[in-house]
Amino acid sequence: MTGKLMIAGGRPLRGTITISGAKNSAVALIPAAILAESTVVLDNLPQISDVGILAEILGELGASVEREGDSMRIHPQSLKSIPMPNGNVKKLRASYYLMGALLGRFGEATIGLPGGCNFEPRPIDQHIKGFEALGAEVSNENGAIHIRAKALRGAKIYLDMVSVGATINIMLAASRAKGITLIENAAKEPEIIDVATLLNSMGAKIKGAGTETIRIEGVDAMQGCRHSIIPDRIQAGSYMIAAAATRGDVLVDNVIPKHLEALTAKLQEMGVHIYEMDESIRVVGQPEYESIDVKALVYPGFATDLQSPMTSLLTQVKGTSILTDYVYNNRFKHVPELVRMGARIKVEGRSAVIEGGLLQSAKVKATDLRAGASLFIAALTVPTGETEITGTEYIYRGYENLVPNLRNLGAEVWEEYE
Ligand code: EPZ
Repeated sequence: MTGKLMIAGGRPLRGTITISGAKNSAVALIPAAILAESTVVLDNLPQISDVGILAEILGELGASVEREGDSMRIHPQSLKSIPMPNGNVKKLRASYYLMGALLGRFGEATIGLPGGCNFEPRPIDQHIKGFEALGAEVSNENGAIHIRAKALRGAKIYLDMVSVGATINIMLAASRAKGITLIENAAKEPEIIDVATLLNSMGAKIKGAGTETIRIEGVDAMQGCRHSIIPDRIQAGSYMIAAAATRGDVLVDNVIPKHLEALTAKLQEMGVHIYEMDESIRVVGQPEYESIDVKALVYPGFATDLQSPMTSLLTQVKGTSILTDYVYNNRFKHVPELVRMGARIKVEGRSAVIEGGLLQSAKVKATDLRAGASLFIAALTVPTGETEITGTEYIYRGYENLVPNLRNLGAEVWEEYE
């Protein structure tokens, strides 16, 4: 049961936060393990609900899954491609990775259209285009995608737009295709490299992950291995933004600073003091910030997943800032909630125009994960009163141990149940 998140803001965050493994890697690596014929061990998994749901799904498909701390042992030996039109697959978006993984291993998959954070329609046409190019037949049967291939063969696939999900899904299926697959206009996010690293440790032959052309030479069989997941750059970025917004002083530990370069550059441009070390970043907030313009782009640009948290920070800046999202057309469901808290923000097409000013406490609702992050950051800045945030089930999908973590940093945060 999840309750309401209550925040009495106005306290600068101070201390150290240790970042967990990346959600958006974990949700691809767990399905990727299906491609192996022996045990895969994943370490540094985040303790978030999406990870638990994926473990349950693998169990429903016949795998045995053991969890101990932040590690998961997946024994896929007895797993089968059982149709999953409904149920758990509807609870998260990343269930679409079961399509590529089951197709690669068994030549067949039936998976219900994914759920997850539906802040706007999120099509999967590029995933399907990729499966078809590899020789699969794809049909939509009552809201479930049925994919079948007698034999998968390598192909050259040019993605119409840079898509993280399509790039990974095609890598999964192509790892077991006959011959060579080239993905052109591929996504370059660090999570793509993490998935390619796991697949290569399992015996795949993937080159170029992290560049716009990925070359995959299909292999006949893949085996188990042990893999440690990269740190969550979005979780890290959210705490960096929260530290700046509360004028705090926070050491964000267990990160790869290079993954956060676009955010670091923008924070510095505003006037936040940042100190980078090998595996940590210290963020020291300042009393006054300059207004800035931010463009959310595909990696290595400013991450769209940090766009909503950044909106909250920009309410704490004198003057007008403009934040434009070039990845999603309309990812602004957090804006009306921030306006309830007194923010002066207008959405114009793909942009949010933000006038700085003090926020006040209110009752607000998270409608998706990062909208939720923007609300807890905004609430932390409010000098008086208590902000009540509902819809916390979305927030806990991406922020492991949020309440204890914020408390350790000195925030006054608690949960209430009706
Ligand atoms: C991944 O979603 C992340 N999710 C998202 O994180 C993130 O916002 C997104 O990448 C962009 O960085 C996971 O990794 C599980 P895309 P994904 O395919 O792969 C359009 C979070 O908060 N598109 O890169 O689904 C699409 O509509 C979340 O952690 C098509 O039109 O995103 C979007 O505008 C939310 N057709 C753009 O491309 C397609 O077939 C990028 O989407 C695929 C995508």
